[in-house]
Amino acid sequence: MNGTVSMLRPTGGNPATRPELTDELRRAVEERAAAAREQLAAAVAEFGGEGEVTFANSFGAEDMVLTELILRLGLPIEIFTLDTGRLPAETYDLMATVEKHFEARLKIYFPDTAAVEEYVRSEGINAFYESIDLRKRCCQIRKVEPLRRALAGKKAWITGLRAAQSTTRVGLPLREADETHGLVKLNPLSDWSEQEVWGFIRIHDVPYSALHDQFYPSIGCAPCTRAIAVGEDVRAGRWWWEDPTLKECGLHVKS
Ligand code: ADX
Ligand code: SF4
Repeated sequence: MNGTVSMLRPTGGNPATRPELTDELRRAVEERAAAAREQLAAAVAEFGGEGEVTFANSFGAEDMVLTELILRLGLPIEIFTLDTGRLPAETYDLMATVEKHFEARLKIYFPDTAAVEEYVRSEGINAFYESIDLRKRCCQIRKVEPLRRALAGKKAWITGLRAAQSTTRVGLPLREADETHGLVKLNPLSDWSEQEVWGFIRIHDVPYSALHDQFYPSIGCAPCTRAIAVGEDVRAGRWWWEDPTLKECGLHVKS
């Protein structure tokens, strides 16, 4: 049964369909990685190290590439994650693996307890399914407000965003001014393809989420993420009940 399902799902997050490591792909990956390493080192030179430059790590495939690049280079860049309280078990497993694998301690931000309690008491435990407004309020409390705290006082932040991930990310630059948070935002993987991301992970044997092997190319909170099916967009499994041209959780919305 599983075999049949796998055969019917040729795209997105399935290791069987990930690219073969041809010489051409290896070369492309190494070129991209060299450019990303350069950008990361330049960020430290321009803005200063830990405390000035911070990396937002969701533990998706792109963020694992950046984790490997930053920690292998030994760059003094802080790594933080926003624990919404609703993440899949696989993400917590990966966090623990990363701490062991890289012998690193991650900075974890949690939502404000009183705000979560109030929201859940008045709207219900899974209220995000009921309306876009309630979904956005949940993201606001569990992700956006903690992000604001994580970025306070920093000069630059690094994300794993890629232009090809979604219609909302087309034209994403390598570097932009984040006016909402008042600092510089760096997207070192903005021009990477999905193949290059997986090529890098395979070449460097980087740990990644078990969910990526179960047709979850994009991973967020458990109740708001599902596996994708044949031919679906890589972000089709995120807030799948919403309009794909609008769905973003508020972390990357411009003011
Ligand atoms: S989201 O806006 O839809 O949630 P997505 O999952 O594509 O974003 O991730 C894009 C980038 O946002 C990640 O590469 C990471 O830099 C940042 N990000 C997303 N979720 C988190 C999180 N929980 N903690 C830290 N950074 C995150
Ligand atoms: Fe809440 Fe879903 Fe947003 Fe997570 S993704 S913060 S559970 S609405």
